[in-house]
Amino acid sequence: MKPYLLAPSVLAANFAHLAADFAMVNQSEADWFHVDVMDGRFVPNISFGMFIIEAMKKLATKPLDVHLMIVEPEKYIEAFRAAGADVITVHYEACPHLHRTLQQIRATGAKAGVALNPHTPVRVLEDVLENLDLVCLMSVNPGFGGQKFIYQTIPKVRALRAMLEERNLDNVLIEIDGGVGLHNAEALLQAGANVLVAGSSVFGTKNPTQTIQKFKNLVKESQI
Ligand code: DX5
Ligand code: ZN
Repeated sequence: MKPYLLAPSVLAANFAHLAADFAMVNQSEADWFHVDVMDGRFVPNISFGMFIIEAMKKLATKPLDVHLMIVEPEKYIEAFRAAGADVITVHYEACPHLHRTLQQIRATGAKAGVALNPHTPVRVLEDVLENLDLVCLMSVNPGFGGQKFIYQTIPKVRALRAMLEERNLDNVLIEIDGGVGLHNAEALLQAGANVLVAGSSVFGTKNPTQTIQKFKNLVKESQI
């Protein structure tokens, strides 16, 4: 198995002690901070916006992977970039002009990502594959942390990996978001994923640093 990126989702962090949780991730083997923005319209929940991301940026020594679960994301791309986003992911389902929005993200210098809800097939991305840096496959219905992993995601990862291989686009990252834990990480990586988001399965454990290490060891210990 190839090396992959682990992105702890700060939605599951302790917001009264954000500095401590950020320091833990900074010092750990994790690679990115996954940052969930929810607007109460695209998803039935509200989290936080650029003001909080600006504060997070000051605490983070690793890239901020910003997942926008909002309608009309094109209105705020530059603002999220200015707040400190390194990767900006918009939802396919929220973007009638996805090609334009991806260009807008890349123009800010951020990596451009597209997220697909569990019901959206990967084939809808066929005509924008060259315009993106990351595809985020939602393995739960977006809006809340701590939900159960939807197993149908695994064949989707395989299908997307095959599409990327066919087009020689192995630089495009496949990220999995929702219900990811030590129990399914290996299957996802074998299917072709290379970024795993983990919220409750990292921050909900007694020793998150050690859990992160276990996640990263999956590859080191693998014989495949
Ligand atoms: C869900 C969010 C996820 C969430 C993952 O809408 O996009 O990033 O934080 O949380 P876990 O890993 O607990 O399912
Ligand atoms: Zn997310």
